[in-house]
Amino acid sequence: MRKSGILVALFFSINCYAQKFNDLALTPPMGWNTFNTFAGNFNEDILRDMVDKLVSSGMKDAGYKYIIVDDNWTGPRDSLGFLTVDKKRFPSGMEAFSKYVHSKGLKLGLYSDAGYKTCGGYISSRGHEFQDAIMFALWGCDYLKYDWCNSEGINAVGAYTTMRDAIYEAKRPMVFSMCEWGNNKPWEWAASVGHLWRTTGDITACFNCIDTHGGAYNSYGVMQIFDMQEVLRKYAGPGHWNDPDMLEVGNGSLTLTESRAHFSLWAMLAAPLISGNDLRKMPGDVLEILTNREVIAIDQDSLGIQGFRQSKVDSLEIWFKPLKNGDWALCFFNRGSKTADVNFNWKEQVIYDDVAKLELRFDKQPYILHDLWTKKDIGTTGQMLKSKIASHDVLILRLKK
Ligand code: GLA
Repeated sequence: MRKSGILVALFFSINCYAQKFNDLALTPPMGWNTFNTFAGNFNEDILRDMVDKLVSSGMKDAGYKYIIVDDNWTGPRDSLGFLTVDKKRFPSGMEAFSKYVHSKGLKLGLYSDAGYKTCGGYISSRGHEFQDAIMFALWGCDYLKYDWCNSEGINAVGAYTTMRDAIYEAKRPMVFSMCEWGNNKPWEWAASVGHLWRTTGDITACFNCIDTHGGAYNSYGVMQIFDMQEVLRKYAGPGHWNDPDMLEVGNGSLTLTESRAHFSLWAMLAAPLISGNDLRKMPGDVLEILTNREVIAIDQDSLGIQGFRQSKVDSLEIWFKPLKNGDWALCFFNRGSKTADVNFNWKEQVIYDDVAKLELRFDKQPYILHDLWTKKDIGTTGQMLKSKIASHDVLILRLKK
């Protein structure tokens, strides 16, 4: 159909029964996104390399399936108002890139914004939501990240619901990733609008810092973001996830230990796992973190329950996450600067998850302790657990029945 015909068809087809595509993102989405490493410094060649590396590194097989082109890729609107792609970055066009992504068994994510301009100053969807959703669908988009820069005080529920409806009208299932930084408490209203919503401002590649960008806005380290999540756990579930932002595993000043902790904690949170490192330069030990299938299985567990903190004594935090079939994940996390001793007496514990309404009684049900980083069974709940955890490290276990 010609583009003018599309506009006429759109005019006659809009109905008031739009909804979100309901059977998507039943586990937290996994993929790779341009922004954390490249911001605006990417082009089609770099992206094709990333596609190839996602496949050849084994990340695709481990579950990473969305290649997400974040901000800085749109070109001017054409004479009928349709979005075009920045020809300098994508000389072969978006359709060709999309075909390449799909030919590798991956899915395409694109980015737009609810204002007239994106955060990077590129053209975005305000006033063109339905037309843009059609264009995204024609390009074969499977995932839309929708940002909130330059939103000029418009109503967030309205703006995000409009784009949700537009995606539905475009008739191509797309995961709808809402990115308004938690400003409008999307967890309270967006379960029927998006599949995931950012809960905070942007992450930055440090373990424990805030980057104030010279007073302009804040980006947050892994710890700062992690500490904002627990109160939101009751809002997450299959098809509607809290999104504590993309992974900084292997990036910036994070040590390998901190990257491992970051990845483990995101899994305990049932967070989307969207890596943001340069896959061309990924060291083997970073790849090992990103592809640890046993940790990924905690994140991707089909019960979809976000974990909770059971205790914090000095610098040692203990987190639990119920899993399907009665297993549990348990994460000891040492956020302090010195090694922490773990002396965990199972018999003294009564763990109750007041969101999932599940109880854990080790005197009634014994478990095998499976260490997800050494990938070995290290004992049972029959004996006291004694361990030492290095600064900023984790001991993450699957309690197996
Ligand atoms: C905002 C978002 C980021 C990223 C940038 C792109 O800051 O929160 O995740 O998409 O815009 O400019």
